[in-house]
This record gives sequence, C-alpha cells and structure tokens, in this order.
Amino acid sequence: MSQTTIPDHLTKRPLRVAIIGAGPAGVYAADLLTKSEPVASGALSLAIDLFDRYPAPYGLIRYGVAPDHPRIKGIVNALHKVLDRGDIRFFGNVDFGTDVDLQALREHYDALIFATGAIRDADLNIPGIGLEGSFGGADFVSWYDGHPDVPREWPLEATEIAVIGNGNVALDVARVLSKHPAELLVTEIPENVHAGLLASPVTDVHVFGRRGPAQVKFTPLELRELSHSHDVDIVLYPEDFEFDEASDAAIKTNNQTKTMVSTLTNWLIEQEEREDRAPASRRLHLHFLHNPVEVLGEDGKVSGIRFERQELDGTGQVRGTGELLDYPVQAVYRAIGYFGSPLPGLEFDANTGVVPNDGGRVLDGDGAHVPGLYTTGWIKRGPVGLIGHTKGDALETITHLLAELGQLPPAATEASIEDHLQARGVAYTTWEGWLKLDEHERALGADAAPVPTAAGPVQRERIKVVDRERMVELSRPLEARA
Ligand SMILES: Cc1cc2nc3c(=O)[nH]c(=O)nc-3n(C[C@H](O)[C@H](O)[C@H](O)COP(=O)(O)OP(=O)(O)OC[C@H]3O[C@@H](n4cnc5c(N)ncnc54)[C@H](O)[C@@H]3O)c2cc1C
Ligand SMILES: NC(=O)c1ccc[n+]([C@@H]2O[C@H](COP(=O)([O-])OP(=O)(O)OC[C@H]3O[C@@H](n4cnc5c(N)ncnc54)[C@H](OP(=O)(O)O)[C@@H]3O)[C@@H](O)[C@H]2O)c1
Repeated sequence: MSQTTIPDHLTKRPLRVAIIGAGPAGVYAADLLTKSEPVASGALSLAIDLFDRYPAPYGLIRYGVAPDHPRIKGIVNALHKVLDRGDIRFFGNVDFGTDVDLQALREHYDALIFATGAIRDADLNIPGIGLEGSFGGADFVSWYDGHPDVPREWPLEATEIAVIGNGNVALDVARVLSKHPAELLVTEIPENVHAGLLASPVTDVHVFGRRGPAQVKFTPLELRELSHSHDVDIVLYPEDFEFDEASDAAIKTNNQTKTMVSTLTNWLIEQEEREDRAPASRRLHLHFLHNPVEVLGEDGKVSGIRFERQELDGTGQVRGTGELLDYPVQAVYRAIGYFGSPLPGLEFDANTGVVPNDGGRVLDGDGAHVPGLYTTGWIKRGPVGLIGHTKGDALETITHLLAELGQLPPAATEASIEDHLQARGVAYTTWEGWLKLDEHERALGADAAPVPTAAGPVQRERIKVVDRERMVELSRPLEARA
C-alpha cells in the first residue's frame, strides 16, 4: 500500500467516508478501510456511513444469488460480522439521487465511494424482444428473490421456454424455471414465489448459447448442479459439439474449460444410456451455436424464437451459417448480462454501464480525477465476476483513497446526516433495524410447517419479507418514526 500522509485536520477529527451501496463491494471497502495500516496504527480515525436504497444490506447476495445456493451463507455471515462490529453505520432505505444527492453527501463527508453495482438487464436489440412473454432474466431473478420493487405476480404460463445466454445467470434462471417447486420450498423463497412456481405448466426449458461448449461462461459447480434437480432430464444435441483449434487449446490449457466440456460430453453419453428408463416430467435442453435473431409473435405474444446457426471460426469466435432455426416457445428470458445505471452528478459510460474511473478514482467528462469521489465493485468495472472478486476492487480503490488524503476536499459541515435525512422526511433504517427484520424473517421460517424431503422433514431457516413498507415498518425503531 502506498505511503499515507495524514493532513493536519484529520489528526484532530475522523476521516468521514460515505459508501453508497451495501452490497459486497461496499461492505468490503468499509472493512478494508477500518483495517488499513493508518487506522490500525492509530494515526487516522474513521467515521464510515454505508447507505443503501433497500432496508436490507448485501445487494445481489440478497436480491441476485439464487435461493437454492445456501453455500453463500458463509459470505453473508462474514459480511454480517463486519457490520455488527459497530464501527460502520448502516443507513438503509436511502436512495442516492432521490433521498440524498451528491451535493449533500459532499458537504457531510470527505470522501464518497460509489458501490452501486448493476441491477438491470443488458438490452438485446432483436425484433420481437418487446412482445408479451419476453422477459429480462434480472427481472425474473428479482421476482424469485423477493425484491421489494418488482410486482408480486409473475406470469408463468408457458410450457416451453427459451433462455438466451450461457452465463451463470442463465443457469440460475433455467434451473429455477425447470426445478419442481417442492425442492425450493426448503429455501427462503417468499410464499408468492413458491405459489407462482407451483402453478407453472412448464415442461421444457431450452438454454441457448451463441458459441460452443468450450466457450461457455458457466462455472463448473453451477453447471454440474443442473443435474441435481429431481425429475428433470438434461437434453443435449450431438451436432452442437463442435470444437475448433481455439476450443482444443482451451480444453488442454484451461482446467475450468476442460471440466465443463467433460461434464457436457458425459451428459451426452449418459443421455443415450438413459433411453431404457422412464423419462422425467420436465426437460432442460442445452443448445450451442445458436445466435438469436428474432422473437416470433402471434397476437402480440411470444410464439417462438428464431436463431441463426453459428460455426466456430478457429479463434473461439463464431460466424453465421445462414441457416435459420425456429423453436416454438411461449416465453423468452434473456440472460445476456446485467448493466449499471447512471448516478446523478457523476459521469456515466453508456456503452459499458460503468462510472468512468482510474483504478477506482472517479473521472470527470475530461478524464480528470474528481477529488474525493471513488468507486468500487460492478459499477467500477462492469457486471462480471463473483462476490470474492469485489474484495480486490475494494482494495485498489481504498489504496488510492488513503494515498490521496491530502487532496480530499474536507467536509464543509459538522451537521449530522441523520438531521439532513429527517428534515427531508426520509424513513431511513439502521443496522439495529436490519437485525430486527432479520430476526422476524427467521421467526417466519421457524413458525412455518416443516417441509417433507427425502431426508425427512426440514425446518425452513427464513422466509423473506417482500413488501418494502413492511420491511421498513419492521426495521424502524418506534422512536425514529415520525
Ligand atoms: C443473478 C446473480 C446471481 C449471482 N450469484 C452469485 C453466486 O452464487 N456466487 C457469487 O460469488 N457471485 C454471484 N453473483 C455475482 C455477485 O452477485 C456480484 O459479484 C456482486 O454482488 C457484485 O457486488 P457489488 O457490491 O458491486 O454490487 P451489488 O451486489 O449489486 O450491490 C450494490 C448495492 O448498491 C445499492 N444501490 C444501487 N443503487 C443505489 C442508489 N442509487 N442508492 C443507494 N444504494 C444503491 C443496491 O441496492 C445494492 O445493495 C451473482 C450475480 C447475479 C446477477
Ligand atoms: N452461482 C454463481 O456463482 C453465479 C451465479 C450468477 C452469476 N454469477 C456471476 O455473475 C456474473 C454475471 O453473470 P451473467 O450470466 O449475467 O453474465 P456472463 O457471465 O457475462 O454471461 C453472459 C452470457 O450472455 C451471452 N451473450 C451476451 N450478449 C449476447 C447476445 N447479444 N446474444 C446472445 N448471447 C449473448 C454471452 O455470450 P458470449 O460469451 O458469446 O459473449 C454469455 O454467454 C458472472 O461473472 C457470473 O459468473 C455467478
């Protein structure tokens, strides 16, 4: 870490830092700051406030990670411990841009770190994408994860569904759509989600990748997990197993690619062997070398999807063959990546969906550093990578921040941010409030009827509260209410 010179005023009072976004990137940035050398040695003291637009912390861990991924709990426990220490204040239900703006935050803090992630679907500009029955994967994820700002009802009327994309989100979406909902009941899914999935008549979910099996962006564990769903057959197509020179090289040199190609080819072999057993009631098809060209419609609704068959060009990229392939489906989900949203007062790169920055230092329209403004996580480098990767982002960002203490424009006011929020009528929630909501959700799980499973009855650990007003009501201490 570069040398930190502490300016005189910061020897007399704490460095005031606001972090906007309580997802993993924001929490890691706060944690790393508190553990940094100048703070640990006592040379610098800190006052960190962490803001989020939701009454609950953890960002996509709560509103992105699939409910049947409980192994993520270890990370949640670690983030919980950071926020439970008491040296980082949490302000939930505060939307940057609506409830608080750049000017107010700059007046109250010496440095701001934007860790607002990415919440919406990347666009897919093909004819028919706006038809009824064509959905963004991110919206569906938000629905099944009980996001407070999406409608409670989700139209699950299709028997055949297309999912576009070969990343882990496509796998999550396809798995949740195809899995029998009884298997999801042991998780924290809200009641309305379980009821919606239970009524779904789906029989076939088709996942389409535009490149080959050696070019998928899945990770091995997530791919293998597809085969764990009960009464769902995986279906593959031998003609899709095309490998060019670049694919062969990747299989030889990259363990991850090798594992995934071997998983897929084993499934292809097993599929021939399973012909003598009773077929499952649902199927999950994996297609490769299919580039989407049009969502087909009838009476304004999705009735199919058209692809152009691709072939590998030797470099791992693809070119069109001119052959068109149509599939009858009644719903299309695009899972082709997330996209960041602009932050009022900051520059935004509309091509990549990030806040322009230099190693986490926010840039203005002329490419110059804006003193005191920093960014980290997906809004800094784009919507790719696992939770753990946001730790490296945070380290780079706070290293710059600490090296630039002398250049930070000092906060202009001693007034409290609580007074500012209260004066604006913002019903902010606190860490203590989250602990109450957390306890309430756990109690809902404990009070629910045990779920029968093959291994015996299982008690639900938590049931999420979905409604934002109810979340706030459960979180706000009585004395904080107007
Ligand atoms: C569907 C899905 C499933 C995933 N599953 C896994 C998984 O199983 N394992 C894994 O390792 N990785 C997984 N990932 C990746 C992981 O979620 C990301 O790497 C990580 O969440 C990015 O962290 P972040 O803090 O940058 O963004 P986020 O987690 O999105 O956090 C950003 C936070 O900023 C807040 N915010 C945004 N705008 C504002 C505003 N204007 N005002 C106030 N607050 C704001 C948001 O409410 C949010 O809490 C998944 C990603 C997706 C999309
Ligand atoms: N369980 C987990 O650990 C988990 C779960 C979910 C997400 N995540 C992580 O979160 C990050 C984001 O995941 P993601 O799935 O949203 O993104 P991703 O990994 O970038 O995958 C996007 C997929 O969409 C395809 N695509 C992009 N544009 C397309 C187009 N116009 N037409 C057809 N296909 C198109 C890409 O194909 P090309 O490769 O050809 O561009 C790629 O297969 C990833 O790092 C992922 O690992 C992790």
